Amino acid sequence: MAELTWEIFHRQVETCAMCPLHEGIRHKVPGQGDPAAPLMFIGEGPGQVEDEEGLAFVGPAGQLLTRMLAAISLPRDRVYICNIVKCRPPNNRVPEEAEANACKLHLRNQVALVRPKVIVLLGSTAAKNTIGPEVRITRDRGRWFNSKGTWMLPTYHPSALLRDPDKKREAWEDMQTLRDKLIELGLYKDIFGGTE
Ligand code: URA
Repeated sequence: MAELTWEIFHRQVETCAMCPLHEGIRHKVPGQGDPAAPLMFIGEGPGQVEDEEGLAFVGPAGQLLTRMLAAISLPRDRVYICNIVKCRPPNNRVPEEAEANACKLHLRNQVALVRPKVIVLLGSTAAKNTIGPEVRITRDRGRWFNSKGTWMLPTYHPSALLRDPDKKREAWEDMQTLRDKLIELGLYKDIFGGTE
């Protein structure tokens, strides 16, 4: 089998028709960022602005994500950002199980290429499709999970914070938890230019 490369990954996403989601879209949204980032963020699926631009998290939720990163001094271009599904679900509905499963090949390839040490799961869809269906975001957010040496932290999706600003305090705590882990793993200062 051919060795997996970013070129192969992007071609596979661009030509993918493994589920019906590709039928109504303007652009595939594979994900973007530092291709060797030690820190990866996974959301649910592209929204309207992402579908128009072909980039993950560039609409209102993405702007909030940028501010959440800035709050712990992480420049956005030093992390990798993607979604469970690479095509916008109609009317921004939650991706169906079959759609998320069909897209997992792409996500697995992406994780294999980036090889992140830490993954932040933004919202329930991201957490359930990576850690497992038993995860409950309200119960499990801010808790570390470890899978084969990779640390995974579920937290609220930025869209949930836009809908319910009362959740922002907990999301802020989760960003501190993330920062502490990056410091513990020796990633914060060296890679992100932080001060600790
Ligand atoms: N919501 C997501 O889950 N992903 C995006 O890229 C944008 C909004």
